[in-house]
Amino acid sequence: MKIGILTSGGDCPGLNAVIRGAVLRGVISHDAEFVGFRWGWRGVVEGDIVPLPRQEVRGLSRQGGTILHSSRTNPFEGEGGGPENIQRMLDSNGIDAIIAIGGEGTLTAARRLVDEGGIKVVGVPKTIDNDLASTDYSFGFDTAVEIATEAIDRLRTTADSHGRCMIVEVMGRHVGWIALHSGMAGGAHAILVPEQPQSIEQICAWVESVRDRGRAPVIVVAEGFRLSDMDSEHSHKGLDAFNRPRLGGIAEILAPMIEERTGIESRATVLGHIQRGGAPSAYDRVLATRLGMAAVDAVHDHAWGEMVTLRGTDIARVSIREATGALNVVPPSRYDEAAVLFG
Ligand code: F6P
Repeated sequence: MKIGILTSGGDCPGLNAVIRGAVLRGVISHDAEFVGFRWGWRGVVEGDIVPLPRQEVRGLSRQGGTILHSSRTNPFEGEGGGPENIQRMLDSNGIDAIIAIGGEGTLTAARRLVDEGGIKVVGVPKTIDNDLASTDYSFGFDTAVEIATEAIDRLRTTADSHGRCMIVEVMGRHVGWIALHSGMAGGAHAILVPEQPQSIEQICAWVESVRDRGRAPVIVVAEGFRLSDMDSEHSHKGLDAFNRPRLGGIAEILAPMIEERTGIESRATVLGHIQRGGAPSAYDRVLATRLGMAAVDAVHDHAWGEMVTLRGTDIARVSIREATGALNVVPPSRYDEAAVLFG
């Protein structure tokens, strides 16, 4: 069996470990052969294919990024797009099935290709934000939390030196998992997430209570957070390839508001793509390797339209339809638990 692998959407640490896990498992256990589609779905649509023999994945589990590159291409668009063209390209290259490693957009496209064109696709969940339902954690998230926590630790010492308020912005378009976990780990005095809009008065009350105890306030905010009186998330950078507003910069909106209302000198730090770069953590390497291995087993079992997933400590399978049907949001109980320590 010849299997094509692609990585699509925003990258995150662990993608290469999935590729390695899949190739090794396939070669060792199923006598499979592998190719890679370059630049996500674009490689499928344009037939941009590279061989992926065992030696190509040597030492890959510790390497950040993706050796196959990634893009936010829609496989239903463009000259070679759509199920019929894609099946023709697969046939002419002797490719039997696709392993699609991606987030909600990638997996939704994968499901449509299975449903509308009978394309043989198995999914692997990929989201730095940890926003996909049906998987307890996704690889890359743990690494991002480590990076954000280290940044919070560093910002705290300079905040203390100057008696300033620090606002640290982390990724999290629709969900606040990175903010919640890094904020708890770093002992933030307030954590602001998309699921829980807050008023500027409440935020300033937390900041003042920290200051009144003689401490320098540290606030962690997810990029998708909105103040209670904002209609939508802050965006001033236009739209991405899927027509979604590019986020980033809410910390820079909050800092002057807090400074003006509390009189505490405030600084904003936007961590941005640094959270997605570099080597994966040990946890993410293990999770990604297991998911890659399980994806090949799913192909072997002809589990088209299914996605491999983490349930507790076990790797399981769910339908992509179920996985893309809802977001993995921070539940109110988890937020309330953290909020006991605010202020
Ligand atoms: O969806 C993952 C994510 O990292 C979001 O947190 C962020 O808003 C977005 O991707 C950034 O996308 P890009 O890499 O296209 O700038």
